[in-house]
Amino acid sequence: MRRRDFLLSAVGGTLAAFGSFDDILPLNAAGRAEAGDAEIPYGAAVKTELLDVDVQYTDAIKRYCRMIVGEGGLKWADLRPQPETFDFTQADRQLEFADANGMTMRGHTLVWYAAMPDWALNLATPLAAELELVNHIETVLDRYRGRIPSWDVVNEPIADDPSGRDVIRPSVWSEQLGRGYIETSLRTAAEADPNAQLIINDFNFEKPTTQCRRRRAAMIDLLRELKDNGVPLHGLGLQGHLTGASEIDQDGLSRFVEDVNELELDVLVTELDVIDDKLPGNVHVRDQIVASRVKDYLDAITDVVQPKAILTWGISDRYTWVPMWFSRSDGLPNRPLPLDDKYQPKALFSVLQQYTSI
Ligand code: G3I
Repeated sequence: MRRRDFLLSAVGGTLAAFGSFDDILPLNAAGRAEAGDAEIPYGAAVKTELLDVDVQYTDAIKRYCRMIVGEGGLKWADLRPQPETFDFTQADRQLEFADANGMTMRGHTLVWYAAMPDWALNLATPLAAELELVNHIETVLDRYRGRIPSWDVVNEPIADDPSGRDVIRPSVWSEQLGRGYIETSLRTAAEADPNAQLIINDFNFEKPTTQCRRRRAAMIDLLRELKDNGVPLHGLGLQGHLTGASEIDQDGLSRFVEDVNELELDVLVTELDVIDDKLPGNVHVRDQIVASRVKDYLDAITDVVQPKAILTWGISDRYTWVPMWFSRSDGLPNRPLPLDDKYQPKALFSVLQQYTSI
């Protein structure tokens, strides 16, 4: 049962007196639902190179975020330029910033198919791949044990459009180790830092499409298999790179997070933004649609579970990955994030205020 339905049934009589569910939500003077324990911590992904050059950027992160995650820095491409090296420069700077500003930091990501140096992509035997995988995870978690409390251990393990036996995304890890690389990664991480929150992180679960339905089913099957085998795992990260031109499949998404919850796994929203390349150019109209997609997305999730965190993938439109792949044909800048390129709150910011500590 969705939480909203349970609550409505539990307070049915009271509702009759008030007229709607929202009338009985405790609201503060700003019209925001009372924060208290129900407030979901908000954070954002940061670019290391901006932490020491853009004061407006760091001021916004300090003002609104309780946590950060590096857009880069802990990916193999950044950490491991050569087989024998670990370059922690970026991650150390990110953690120093978090520590100095009373924030926690998420680690992204220990194992992925992308952002890999050529030498790692060329690992040619199962033994070589497993040795490198285990050594990498142990070395990184040894360094940050107790200082980075939550990790995207495996990023994007589900195939783009899973079907039949092909449900795991091809990678050097899956090619050399099969789907067992996922269990190996999680078990290694749990041994290296027994207190860390271990997350599997993935995207594209929220559209009303056959592909998303297949992805949801494949992810639940993977999570259930891992839990049934006693593999250490604490939650699912929903990246939340929403397609602005697509509705949110609220019922499908609610049922999905309900299934995750029934596996006793936490839910995090880890990379929220809205890809607006196919939305109208008019800024006011576009901002309203962006905000409505996020509200529909977060409603579908929070009707069922309370995410442990909600992070956007960046905080200002001034710095976003979106145009790397989804630049607008009209040449207008993308507007995927809660603050505009002058760090002014947008409609999306107001939506996040209803759910998070932003
Ligand atoms: O740092 C180099 C720079 O020295 C070089 O001059 C420049 C041009 O080649 O590249 C710079 O590295 C880029 C890096 O971002 C830092 O800006 C890489 O080419 C580029 O591929 C990398 O893109 C990142 C991408 O992940 C791949 O790692 C994006 O910033 C980042 O936003 C994106 O984030 C991913 C998440 O990790 C997983 N979920 C999807 C999300 C969006 O794609």
